[in-house]
Order: sequence, then structure tokens, then C-alpha cells
Amino acid sequence: MANRPDPRDPADVTLNPLFARPGEARSLPRFRIGEQPMLPETAYQIVHDEAMLDGNARLNLATFVGTWMDDEARRLYAEAFDKNMIDKDEYPQTAAIEERCWRMVADLWHAPDPETTIGCSTIGSSEACMLGGLALKRRWQESRRAQGKPVERPNLVMSSAVQVVWEKFCDYWDVEPRYVPITEEHRTLDGHGLREHVDENTIGVVSILGVTYTGMYEPVAQVSAALDEIQKETGLDIRIHVDGASGAMVAPFLQPELAWDFRVPRVASINTSGHKYGLVYPGLGWVVWRERSLLPESLVFTVSYFGGAMPTFALNFSRPGAQVLLQYFQFLRLGREGYREVQQASQDVAKFLAAGIGRLDAFELWNDASDISVFAWRQTPGHSRNWTLYDLSDRLRQKGWLVPAYPMPDDLADMTVQRIVVRNGLSRDMARSLLDDIEESVRYFDKLTEPLPDAPRSSYHH
Ligand SMILES: Cc1ncc(COP(=O)(O)O)c(C=O)c1O
Repeated sequence: MANRPDPRDPADVTLNPLFARPGEARSLPRFRIGEQPMLPETAYQIVHDEAMLDGNARLNLATFVGTWMDDEARRLYAEAFDKNMIDKDEYPQTAAIEERCWRMVADLWHAPDPETTIGCSTIGSSEACMLGGLALKRRWQESRRAQGKPVERPNLVMSSAVQVVWEKFCDYWDVEPRYVPITEEHRTLDGHGLREHVDENTIGVVSILGVTYTGMYEPVAQVSAALDEIQKETGLDIRIHVDGASGAMVAPFLQPELAWDFRVPRVASINTSGHKYGLVYPGLGWVVWRERSLLPESLVFTVSYFGGAMPTFALNFSRPGAQVLLQYFQFLRLGREGYREVQQASQDVAKFLAAGIGRLDAFELWNDASDISVFAWRQTPGHSRNWTLYDLSDRLRQKGWLVPAYPMPDDLADMTVQRIVVRNGLSRDMARSLLDDIEESVRYFDKLTEPLPDAPRSSYHH
């Protein structure tokens, strides 16, 4: 929710006289729609100039979201920005391409039977996670009701390092979140301590492929093995949803032998962000269920399609269709080998950066980008009392780089880390410049004889 208007903002937006066309107002209300229309060129200039002050997307090493595509993709985008994904009847080809794409993704994740698997596109992983979670909840409720058991107190088990969407899911849909704390010894949800967290009210366990804080994979097969043991002991048959927002479009190409997907029988559903390592511009996610029976019928609605009916399961109604076409473009353009090369190139750059940062006395790596091309580090304990990673983040921002620093989740909240997300488009040369800037900053900070005043702490969210 937006804060109240900043009182330092003047009430009006003033317009450079050079930009205002004859007869147009030179000043416009900031928080009210103006009375009169203006020419599109003038409106463009105002919006363009204000947006220019945003950070440079290519230097934003905080985000996982795609910031570069081929020119042909941009052309396709411009041709398709008016398509509404929900209008399956009006845009049947876009609807057909959507289905083709989720089937391709299901195949990539080893869905056992292409005939009975089911999936859809979403606006991003957040919506996809909500759908995965809702299916777990509804399935648990239906099975409990069939046994005449109460359904009032569902819970979901996950690591304390989950992305905020899972907190939202639990809050919005009245599910108790049960967080398994991560520690120095157990840096991800690895099955350790699971027994104390699950019970007959557990709707599922979330495994993250590419933990947002660090980029590390949670060992899905190991979590599954722990649940097998729990089932032997208690009879509870608990399914896994894999939140592969970033990793589900990396592991199939960089770690094809790693069994984290539908090869693990307990995995009921998987989500990913098409707009992260799916390499599409923002506004696209995917969710796939192993088989139709895992997505309760009661959650599915129908929309009209070719004069017939098409099942849909979504939180949004209207949503842009262009990104789905862009995903299909990328699947055609890159093929499996192209995806492998792009992800490998990002990982090479990330490992290069991690090695360079790990070599500095000031830092200790938390992980080294060997899962997805993301890694985090902390200040070496005792290195300096005069500066923190927040100061480094602040100084790098002066050079245009966005490299966030933030506390780890509960139980490790005393630890501050800094993280780099390498995406397609960060070249080795750019990485070299970033490393130079980090080294120069550390040299500068290490000459300080007194502590810096507190640096602004970015309100960075996971
Ligand atoms: C593990 C994980 N889950 C979910 C999300 C939310 O994804 P989206 O931004 O596509 O909604 C993210 C975003 O970073 C994430 O890292």
C-alpha cells in the first residue's frame, strides 16, 4: 500500500516550457487527474522523463527478473500487447500456445504422463505458488471430510527462508505456517527437524529450488526421503510442492541428473517464473501438477473457448497474453541447448564474481553459485567495526550497481548478507568492472579510522 504523499513533493508537476505545446498547461496536479487533455507527445515526455530516474535494469543485480530479450521478442511483444490471456475464444492461438508451453514445461520436469498432467500460465510465481498451495489445501480438506475428520486447522511446513509469497498464502487462506529454521549447519530445509513440524493437519511441504536469500537448492529428494520415514512411522502421506521460481528453469539444463522434479514421486506440483530464468520479460509464471487428480475439480472454472468450454484455474481474470507468446518464442529460439548455454554463461559469470569476492579478506562466501547463478556473502566476523555491508551496498549504488544487503531470516537474523543475482545480460566485462568497484570500495572502507554513520538500510523484500 502506498505511503501518504511526501509533504516535500510540490502539489504540481511543472512542465519545461519547451515541452508544453501551445495552449497546454505548464503545470499539472500531482495527485489528481487534470481537467484538460494534453497531446500524446507532451504526456510521453513527462512520463518518459520521470521514469528515466529509475535504476538501470541491467545493473540491477537484486532482481531475478529478466531484463534482456532479442529485438524480435520486442517486436512480438509490441504486436501482442493488446491480447488478454483470458479471452481464449477471441485469441484461440494464444490459448493453444499457452497449453503447448505448459506441456513443454511439464515434459522438462519429467511429468510421468503427458496425457494426465495439467498446468497453466500465471502472472508470476506468486500466483503460481498460491494455486499450488490452494490445491494442496483443498485436496487435504476433501480427503479429511471424506474421513469425517475436522478441517479447521490446516498447516503448511517450509523453511524459514521462504519467499514472502508463502507467508501471504498462509495469511490470506487461513493456513498455519510452520517454519523449520535454517541454521549454519542446515542452510536449507533438508529434512532435518521435519518430524517435529508435520502432523495430520499438514497440507504439504514446500521445497525451494533456488532459495531467494542465497540461491541454494533445497534437496527435494532428501526431504522426500524424510517424509517416507515419517509415513512409515505415522501413516501420514504428505506431498511436496516445489517452489522452483528460479531453479526450475535452471536445474534441467545445468544439473540434469539432479532429481528434484516429478522424478521424485512425492512431488505433487511445481511452479516457476517464466520471467526469471525462463528468460522472458516480467509478467509470467507457470504451475504444473503431476496429474489431474492432484488439482481438485472443485477449484477449476470454465471459460468459453472456440464456442466450447475450457477449464481455467487462476486468481486473475484479465492478464496480458503477450508474455506467453514470448515464452514460446524463447523455447523455439533457444531450444534445450540454447537454454543450457545461456544458463551456463550466467553461472560462469556468477562463479567468477563469487571467486573474486571470496578472495577478499573482508568477506566470507555463504555459497558459491554452484546451484543457480546466485550467491551471497557476509563480512568476515571481526573484519571491521567501521563499515558494514549496508555501506558497501550504498557505495555501489553510487556507481549504478544495485546489490542489496539484508538480514537472514529468523534464527540467523543477526547475520547480514549481501547477494548478487547474475542473469542473462551481465557480461564478464561488466562483472570485472563490478569486482573492481567492490575492491576499490573495500580499500576505501578499510582506511576508515572511525565507524561510518549508519548507512540507509534498503527496505529489501524477499
Ligand atoms: C523462491 C521464490 N518464490 C516465489 C517468488 C515470487 O515470484 P514472482 O516474482 O514471479 O511472483 C520468488 C521471487 O523472487 C522466489 O524467489
